Amino acid sequence: MKPNTEVKVGKLILKNPVVTASGTFGYGLEYSQFFDLSLLGAIVIKGLSINPKEGNPPPRIYETPCGMLNSIGLQNIGYSYFVKEKLPFLKRFDTKIIVNFFGENLREYIELAERLNDTDGVHALEMNVSCPNKNSHWRKMGLIPELLKEAVREVRKVTDKTLIIKLSPQVTDIAEMAKICEDEGADAISLINTVPAMVIDIKTRRSVIGNPVGGLSGPAIRPIALRMVWEASKVVQIPIIGIGGIITAEDALQFLIAGAKAVAVGTANFINPLSAMEVIKGIENFLITEGIKDINDLIGTVTD
Ligand SMILES: Cc1cc2nc3c(=O)[nH]c(=O)nc-3n(C[C@H](O)[C@H](O)[C@H](O)COP(=O)(O)O)c2cc1C
Repeated sequence: MKPNTEVKVGKLILKNPVVTASGTFGYGLEYSQFFDLSLLGAIVIKGLSINPKEGNPPPRIYETPCGMLNSIGLQNIGYSYFVKEKLPFLKRFDTKIIVNFFGENLREYIELAERLNDTDGVHALEMNVSCPNKNSHWRKMGLIPELLKEAVREVRKVTDKTLIIKLSPQVTDIAEMAKICEDEGADAISLINTVPAMVIDIKTRRSVIGNPVGGLSGPAIRPIALRMVWEASKVVQIPIIGIGGIITAEDALQFLIAGAKAVAVGTANFINPLSAMEVIKGIENFLITEGIKDINDLIGTVTD
């Protein structure tokens, strides 16, 4: 018999625990040539802001040992274009649509959350607490507990859709940040975002990417992400979406065992567009081989 792979994240029932990581799956269109997007637990779209954003100067991507450095700079098409041109396509699939979003300041976060709350076809909001505006003190909202607290509280007030807070790994105590999200009413947390990192070209003596510092992703960050998910899972009851360097089903299973209710496949999509499918299949096979009837019986079963 097929094991149960359904998991609940806030108000959402995901048919399986595998979602796509924001920024690595666009708006789904390109990947739909490779597989039926309805097979995914959910699609998390590229980070959205109210107005379109150009992003950082090129080059924007650089391959590193076991990972990649990116400085896309949250380039995106803006809310109105997304709703008009991308959402109708996504609505065709029998899966959940999670919109990753950000603002230049807290006011913009609130305004966009309000709009997304009223947007048909958007099932959940993933709030990226890495605010890109260097001139606003809100740029530290994901790093300073008091700012995170205020930001989550205010955004929570304007949406009754499932609210997921996407956490940054750049903190000393991830458990503290996770607990703040739970206490302020978030339905779930997702972690980790990319790790700030740098590579220098010794001939030009400049960074290899347009912005000196980029975000590191891929297998290089997986053990860090896993440790953080485990630490967070010890202090919160709300579901966690584990993200960071997941390439195979075995990687994903580690996160589930560490306490994640779901996992996101990110950089792996660039290597093999079928990665998410292979992870879904591999998890199912593992459940069958281990005689586990319900995936929820596996979640958080790590022993210290
Ligand atoms: C090219 C690229 C673009 C990304 N864009 C976003 C984004 O818009 N919003 C966000 O919250 N995270 C973004 N991320 C972070 C990923 O969603 C994910 O948290 C991170 O890459 C770690 O997972 P991975 O190692 O599986 O890629 C981006 C990552 C990459 C590589």
